[in-house]
Amino acid sequence: MTEPTFRAPKGTRDLLPPTSTRFRALVDLFAQMAERAGFAQVVPPMFEDTRVFLRLGEATDVVTKEMFVIETKGGDHLALRPEQTASVVRAFVEHRPPVPWKAWYAGSNFRYERPQAGRYRQFDQVGVEVLGTDDPAADVEVLALGWRFYEAIGLRRVSLLLNSLGAVEDRARYTEALRAHFEAHASELSEQSQATLAKNPLRVLDSKRPEDEAVITTAPVMAEFLSADAAAHHEAVIAGLDSLAIPFTISPRLVRGLDYYTRTTFEFASEALEGAQNAVGGGGRYDGLVEALGGPPTPGIGFALGVDRILLACDAETVFAAPGPAVEVFVVDVVGGVAATLLTDQLRRAGVGAERAFDARSMKSQMKRAGASGAAMAVIIGEQEAAEETAVLRDLRSSEQQTVPRAAVLPTVLHVLRGSP
Ligand code: HAM
Repeated sequence: MTEPTFRAPKGTRDLLPPTSTRFRALVDLFAQMAERAGFAQVVPPMFEDTRVFLRLGEATDVVTKEMFVIETKGGDHLALRPEQTASVVRAFVEHRPPVPWKAWYAGSNFRYERPQAGRYRQFDQVGVEVLGTDDPAADVEVLALGWRFYEAIGLRRVSLLLNSLGAVEDRARYTEALRAHFEAHASELSEQSQATLAKNPLRVLDSKRPEDEAVITTAPVMAEFLSADAAAHHEAVIAGLDSLAIPFTISPRLVRGLDYYTRTTFEFASEALEGAQNAVGGGGRYDGLVEALGGPPTPGIGFALGVDRILLACDAETVFAAPGPAVEVFVVDVVGGVAATLLTDQLRRAGVGAERAFDARSMKSQMKRAGASGAAMAVIIGEQEAAEETAVLRDLRSSEQQTVPRAAVLPTVLHVLRGSP
């Protein structure tokens, strides 16, 4: 094969079958589980006014360094969404639906990252957001939905890491304590962490660089800064998870890549994936975000799960196989008449998955395609069947076959496939 002139852009990929089929089955399963839990779908635009995302925080790399920004002919600045929480919150502020508002979503996001296994510039998420309640039971509901989803897929090596970043004021006090600690030890920190420190001391906790480890280990922990309210909220979430027997690890240094989190914060990590890209989902509360986007004070919580990474984890755990073929019957027509056109149409209208060949291929070639299509049956029209207005129905597994009048094809197929009389 010659080298293609064009390839998918760096950090993107084509999803081809069977991956694409599996991908959709995963999103369908999520949709079903979210809707059963009372969430309704929101489909926000793929891009927003850049300022919507800038409100997510100046210390957020995702926003400051990784956005795909477009300047329109009219001079507007738009950004491809790097995530969907900001869009959902913007939509909430714009439409003001009754609360609690429970939204689910699915779709692509764009981040200008250094591509590697499990890290792409276009990647997909499924997620939920609950706006307008700060009941810890809502946190538990969101966490449980994520956990049960991984369970339903069949993943066994996912763990839930949980932390509380406290209320806005607690978080601010903690950030100052961290700043003081890290500044006192600045010379011991890596150059990168010194730069991070200037912007957001919390993010220094996220460093995996060995030279930072000692200073991070002795840093103050959030738990000491939680207000009584935030601590009670955290305890209630823990009790809720315990009552559902959902296992979790308290992870006091868990800070997330986005800056809007308050109180409950969490990540789902897959032990089946490489360390740096092992987060298969994450989320938390963002009690100040609605206000930051111009709405009334409204608490919120949600998560987003990375579909691409979940599929990698499924490969590693050999679970969630691609769904079987949708084609049930293959129509073989060697006389090149309209028989194949009529029969496939008739079968499809009756709800049967039907496929056919083109280009007047030989019987042998069409039968080969029938076998590869995954169909359970072939409906065959050769010279004799064309002359006699009949068709041969062949069971592609057992190779048993019978000849039936053309008008009996559909009822017989339905009888064989669906057991209908
Ligand atoms: P996030 O942690 O940035 O959170 O992303 C959530 C998940 O998306 C990650 O755990 C990962 O599985 C996947 N992901 C992120 N970046 C990439 C990438 N470059 N390539 C492949 N997968 C990726 C959020 O996006 C928040 N909006 C979650 C949230 C919802 N918080 C509250 N509500």
